[in-house]
Amino acid sequence: MRLLQEKLSKYDLPQKAMAAGIYPYFRMIESDQDTEVQINGKKVLMFGSNAYLGLTNHPKVKQAAIEAIEKYGTGCAGSRFLNGTLDLHIQLEKRLAEFVGKEDAIIYSTGFQVNLGVVSCLTGREDYIIWDELDHASIIEGHRLSFSTKLKFKHNDMDSLEKQLQKCEPDKIKLIVIDGVFSMEGDIANLPGIVALAKKYNASIMVDEAHGIGVLGAQGRGTCNHFGVTDDVDLIMGTFSKSFASIGGFIASDKETINYLRHNSRSYIFSASNTPAATAAANAALDIMLSEPERIEKLWELTNYALKGFRDMGCEIGHTSTPIIPLFIRDNDLTFLIVKELFDAGIFVNPVVSPAVAPQDTLIRFSLMATHTKEQLDKALEAIRTIFKKYGLIE
Ligand SMILES: Cc1ncc(COP(=O)(O)O)c(C=O)c1O
Repeated sequence: MRLLQEKLSKYDLPQKAMAAGIYPYFRMIESDQDTEVQINGKKVLMFGSNAYLGLTNHPKVKQAAIEAIEKYGTGCAGSRFLNGTLDLHIQLEKRLAEFVGKEDAIIYSTGFQVNLGVVSCLTGREDYIIWDELDHASIIEGHRLSFSTKLKFKHNDMDSLEKQLQKCEPDKIKLIVIDGVFSMEGDIANLPGIVALAKKYNASIMVDEAHGIGVLGAQGRGTCNHFGVTDDVDLIMGTFSKSFASIGGFIASDKETINYLRHNSRSYIFSASNTPAATAAANAALDIMLSEPERIEKLWELTNYALKGFRDMGCEIGHTSTPIIPLFIRDNDLTFLIVKELFDAGIFVNPVVSPAVAPQDTLIRFSLMATHTKEQLDKALEAIRTIFKKYGLIE
């Protein structure tokens, strides 16, 4: 056996979980992504989706994608930089910049590529990237590729952030990169606090709005809009894989920053451009976000109902105040087991275990869509109550 195979053959965590009958990944969905999905011929309620506005099935979004394929074909056969720029991309970039309140924007093929290609290329060897310890993996990958000094601060802890800012020379660039809404824990970044510190230490801010757009702010414009700090935030990132019901991502900023990224961001330049269908779907989702504010209202009605339901039940849900609700289990195997038992009871939720979180912080990620019904939510709450009681997680 070659050395590489020998090393990798020792990795057997998935096999062990499969043997125990609790392996929770790659469950094969045989239907559309909706509040109810079909897996192995069985219908289950979907409480693990990121399509917060429930737009993946919206007739106008589907129609826009179909029409884009009819007109432009299935792919762009090249990068935005060379032969892959469509009028569709340019139109959506203009709309997105305006939507989040910035001068300009560029679209990447995934949100991951945005963070990878932006965080890695803005700052230089003598500069600093300062990040929250619970930032998304794509931000971490981005700064791993950067030559700057990286400083981590404790999650949403302003004292810790200030201590890191104090370590930086005043004349060096300092870029603070954070999630607006944290993807696993559902809590909102303390943006007013971060903005105040950024002003004090002359730092720049980039906010990942993957889970903020479509959820927070006027017409779903995100966390920066929610706190009224759009002008104090330098870069706003978004992804199409959540509320926009598609795939792709964008970064919005001032003209000079976008001009630099357009010509230097490697995951933008050296990767094929977003497909016509995906771009048109995101554009149609944006139309709906702007014209159907009742969806966001419904999402919040369900969110508040679920948050109260879980709190009343005695579940440990951390500091969330959004449609992402972490149900802390604090044990890897038990998390897998409960995900399986919930699945057997007709409820799909996602496990979050180490190394994504520390072993003592494992959780079940429960997330809502505007299209869920109260009855579906009640059914999920009841199933969770029964199973959590059985394992002594609640009384
Ligand atoms: C906070 C955050 N940023 C970025 C991404 C990456 O986005 P995409 O799925 O579009 O690659 C995700 C997706 O999981 C995310 O949760």
